[in-house]
Amino acid sequence: MGFQTLTYGENSTLNTTPPNERRPQRIAVLPGDGIGRDVTAEAVKALLAAKERWSLPLELIEKPWSADHYLETGETLPEGTIEELRDDYSSVFIGAYGDPRIPDMRHAADILLGIRFKLDLFINFRPIKIYDDSLCPLKGKGAQDIDLAVFRENTEGAYVGVGGNFKFGTPDEVAVQEEIHTRKGVERIIRAAFDYAFRHGNLRVCMADKSNVMRYGHDLWMRCFEEVAVEYPEIESSHLFVDALAMQLVRKPENFDVIVTNNMFGDILTDLGAALQGGLGIAASANLHPGRTSMFEPVHGSAPKYAGKDRANPMAAILAASLMLDNLGHAEAANELERVVAEAIQSGFTTRDLGGERGTSEVGDFIAEKLLTPAVVT
Ligand code: NAD
Ligand code: IPM
Ligand code: MN
Repeated sequence: MGFQTLTYGENSTLNTTPPNERRPQRIAVLPGDGIGRDVTAEAVKALLAAKERWSLPLELIEKPWSADHYLETGETLPEGTIEELRDDYSSVFIGAYGDPRIPDMRHAADILLGIRFKLDLFINFRPIKIYDDSLCPLKGKGAQDIDLAVFRENTEGAYVGVGGNFKFGTPDEVAVQEEIHTRKGVERIIRAAFDYAFRHGNLRVCMADKSNVMRYGHDLWMRCFEEVAVEYPEIESSHLFVDALAMQLVRKPENFDVIVTNNMFGDILTDLGAALQGGLGIAASANLHPGRTSMFEPVHGSAPKYAGKDRANPMAAILAASLMLDNLGHAEAANELERVVAEAIQSGFTTRDLGGERGTSEVGDFIAEKLLTPAVVT
């Protein structure tokens, strides 16, 4: 079975943001650590090919912020960077962060979470989509059964870093780690999910929480969801506790179109989602705040064991670049880039994680070349 209906173009997946009017469109490219560097190099090839073919006003500016940079200089993000990204850039593209030499992820907290939080990118949009039946890990299911999007809250929840230790390192140690849920934060992500569902023909929206146990924070989610759902009478809305949703996503993924959930549950569910679509090697992600500088990245991490070995699948990063092009108002280029990735998968031109024998850069070259040489329609 072939390629699914695209959701770009007229029904732009990401038209949460009007086409960015800044010219040129400056993109800060942060390859980061490990395979982040390998896959970003390929995403850059695809972006440069798209720039050439469609004469896009893109200007790519690479930034060195990474584990290496931090270990050499002690600097994570230079002072004033967030303001610069906010004011002078249209987008940020990130490869991945994580390095075994920095076990507390101090640099990633400042760079990756810093950008998400300080640019207030409250929507973490993670599509879960299969490009070929052969990638489906579920018995009796195929590409038509798996096509959904997760709206992960991206600025609060368990990620706020509020907490502390008492009697640290002693047998009586107490560790407290708070979740923060605000009415404003919960409402805006739920609204973003409903708006997206509405714009795409009244897709079904499911909210996942653990309000049976988290009687304060997740009860706020429950109440807020019920209130917003009333405003969208045409949309079929449902609620599942996250444990039940994890099971249902494996049993009946076809029952879901849009899932909205908190930061931590969204993180976990989207790795599960990546497995449903063929693996972390093809799962892409957009961090958005409509109308502002947004950030794009693969869902996967720095996979240190594959770093620099020409083993990593660059498709997640390339699909993140496609989401970015769409967000910047270049729907045709975004659409075509996604189609070419699908073509590579369907013709078996893939890295080993997808069953192929190609290297990272071969796959990147294939995709960039196909993008530059449009198929002749006879
Ligand atoms: P990971 O996503 O880096 O890798 C998990 C496994 O998935 C890999 O061992 C590999 O088998 C597979 N995989 C991931 N990406 C792949 C690709 N492009 N091609 C082929 N296979 C791929 O997760 P991890 O091992 O749990 O974490 C490694 C480091 O990355 C940690 O420091 C973690 O904190 C960090 N991390 C960063 C991000 C991010 O930057 N957004 C996301 C997740 C994890
Ligand atoms: C992700 C990652 C990050 C997260 C880590 C690296 C902080 O797992 O983007 O999914 O938890 O959000
Ligand atoms: Mn994750």
